[in-house]
Amino acid sequence: MSDRLFIFDTTLRDGEQVPGCQLNTVEKIEVAKALEELGVDVIEAGFPVSSPGDFNSVQEISKAVTWPTICALTRAVENDIRVAADALKYAKRKRIHTGIGTSDYHIKYKFNSNREEILERAVACVSFAKKFVEDVQFYAEDAGRTDNEYLARVIEAVIKAGATVVNIPDTTGYCLPRDFQAKIKYLIDNVDGIDKVTIATHCHNDLGMATANTISGILGGARQAEVTINGIGERAGNTSLEEVAMIFKSHKELGIDTNINTTKIYGISRMVSSLMNMPVQPNKAIVGRNAFAHSSGIHQDGVLKNRESYEIINPTDVGVDENSIVLTARSGRAALKHRLHVLGIELDKEALDKAYQSFLQLADRKKEINDDDVLMLAGKHHAAKRRIKLDFLQVTSGVGVHSVASVGLDIAGEKFEACASGNGPVDAAISAIKLIIRRTMLVKEFLIQAINKGSNDVGKVHMTVEYDGNSYYGFSANTDIVAASAEAFIDAINKFVH
Ligand code: KIV
Ligand code: ZN
Repeated sequence: MSDRLFIFDTTLRDGEQVPGCQLNTVEKIEVAKALEELGVDVIEAGFPVSSPGDFNSVQEISKAVTWPTICALTRAVENDIRVAADALKYAKRKRIHTGIGTSDYHIKYKFNSNREEILERAVACVSFAKKFVEDVQFYAEDAGRTDNEYLARVIEAVIKAGATVVNIPDTTGYCLPRDFQAKIKYLIDNVDGIDKVTIATHCHNDLGMATANTISGILGGARQAEVTINGIGERAGNTSLEEVAMIFKSHKELGIDTNINTTKIYGISRMVSSLMNMPVQPNKAIVGRNAFAHSSGIHQDGVLKNRESYEIINPTDVGVDENSIVLTARSGRAALKHRLHVLGIELDKEALDKAYQSFLQLADRKKEINDDDVLMLAGKHHAAKRRIKLDFLQVTSGVGVHSVASVGLDIAGEKFEACASGNGPVDAAISAIKLIIRRTMLVKEFLIQAINKGSNDVGKVHMTVEYDGNSYYGFSANTDIVAASAEAFIDAINKFVH
């Protein structure tokens, strides 16, 4: 009989903290529903006290999701806990995740405090959270670098105060797998009451050991893994959900089972990558574009004779559809709908009609439409709902001539036009948009990337715009890179012009 490992997904909290990865509430609900279908046990939906947007997202996700426990993060601060409890009020199953830094680095430099005071604050935040919810998870931030004896005292005290789950984060991604496993074992051997609670791992990837540490922690006795889709998260990221799920599915001898429906992995990976504009590295384990591509002659020959010679995972087990149809201008609406469904995106009839029209236009310009293009089209459908939209763009540019752009914007249904020149077509288009918006905005970062290859490819533009001391991120994709640049600029503007 296998042991059950609980999967705690923090894509919408730790993952969403990454600059440029912010989602709006509608997008977060879309991801939360996909996480529910994937079979995660807990969704960490946000940090409600951090902004009204986060509060609202936790509340809306609580309403939209049925089975997984919805968790909200707090610091060891009473008001954070009060606000989190309020945000969770509609959740069918709810958990407050509260805690404090326990390493000497945190105690001394972050809190200018001492071990005894931090222990008291840890107990106080758990006791306070217990007034609102039964299920309270405590995190000992930077537990990876916390002295084991002191960590054991803190964990024992918070269990006595009512913690139901104790999270042992390797916040800085510093631990070696053998040390992290020893830490978990030390707690199991030295903490009274630890057998009554679940121990969680939360490993960051700064030294590329997040998954190895998570697996070691679980083999040491932890029974909750904190993970994100595609391993997104602060700095080098968090532990990847897909890696943990597939390791235990592939190594049955370890006797650990999760509730993850692995065939949904590819779809949600692509959905998160596209909504967060965070490309998946081609050689990423399980979900990278090359994860199942055999290019050398020796490998291809081996796989053709027997796929197990070089493949330890059947691609269909993670939802990689081997007969994945490349769509063309002759593909019908049903084929597009099916491809969107495989990628975890459901559009209503009206949205599908619009996406199909854009699909036909793109297919006219580009012979073959692949998954990245399909996701880009679905993203355009979100952009179409924004307040400020690009109505038209005409640019004259070339060698030996001055670049001039005329731009039309639709702002909440009203039409505006302007014309400007610049040192190139993008500069001219952005200057024309600035003439309409009339705010002091500065383009800080500007990156153009091709999605695949070929001169007919779609170009993706990532842009950071500074306004009023804050940075706002914009994204767009288009076969016309000047249009993509103007749209990315408008995407960023939509985040501060209301
Ligand atoms: O990395 C970390 O320590 C965290 C905690 C807030 C759980 O994200
Ligand atoms: Zn973290």
